[in-house]
Amino acid sequence: MTLNREQILAEMGFTPLWVLRDREPGVTSTAAANADPVDEMPPLPAPAVDRPISPEIVPSAASTAALPVDGLAWPELTRRILDCQDCPLCRQRKQAVPGVGDLDPDWLFIGEGPGAEEDARGEPFVGQAGKLLDAMLDSLDIARGNKVYIANAVKCRPPGNRTPEAAEMAACRPYLERQVALLKPKIIVLLGKAAVHAVLGEDKPLAAMRGKRFEYAGIPVTVTYHPAYLLRNLPDKAKAWEDLLFARRVLREAATPALPF
Ligand code: URA
Repeated sequence: MTLNREQILAEMGFTPLWVLRDREPGVTSTAAANADPVDEMPPLPAPAVDRPISPEIVPSAASTAALPVDGLAWPELTRRILDCQDCPLCRQRKQAVPGVGDLDPDWLFIGEGPGAEEDARGEPFVGQAGKLLDAMLDSLDIARGNKVYIANAVKCRPPGNRTPEAAEMAACRPYLERQVALLKPKIIVLLGKAAVHAVLGEDKPLAAMRGKRFEYAGIPVTVTYHPAYLLRNLPDKAKAWEDLLFARRVLREAATPALPF
């Protein structure tokens, strides 16, 4: 038996699928409309785009360890992240996970930190939570690598997937700051409390921050639940969907020039 994409997501517990209201009934996405059989379906990430999605990385020998992070271009920044030993998380990682996506994005999604699969593959959100994140992006008609960049508050896996400690997030913060400065996204969506803490320095409950517009470095910021939380609390997926629609409204407002009167 071959399963189409909707059936696979349903099997994984990612239903109900999120559907844009202005889509034709029964069509959940461009990908779903094509209804690829599972044997031929590529992993959920991303259509090929002609934008730069993996920056060049300078070799270790040309390490820029003496330079401040805030002056670095992508190749040097990525090398610094990969070689980083600024906090104890470096001791147990297989590799650091800098981030992935379009280097000229509208959207920047920031999660907590790599899990086991991300640590093994060097790419953020490639495990179960990542599949849900891809489904969330798909519901907005956006895809990993196409006007979207995905990063984490910490670039190295916290052992046992525990929440990163404040000191670990602080050690990693210059990398995130430099990524934001280079990416200049039109909106930042923070996935879960750790990302909120890392970027906004807030420890309020997420429920109190949803549906509000914050700002970081002049860029609008919104918050929603972490996909891993949503996998454990399926009813809250409806709230996350509301949060994404809110984020899209904020993005559109930010992209619309103010009227001169
Ligand atoms: N959870 C995160 O916060 N980030 C990842 O990259 C994977 C899971």
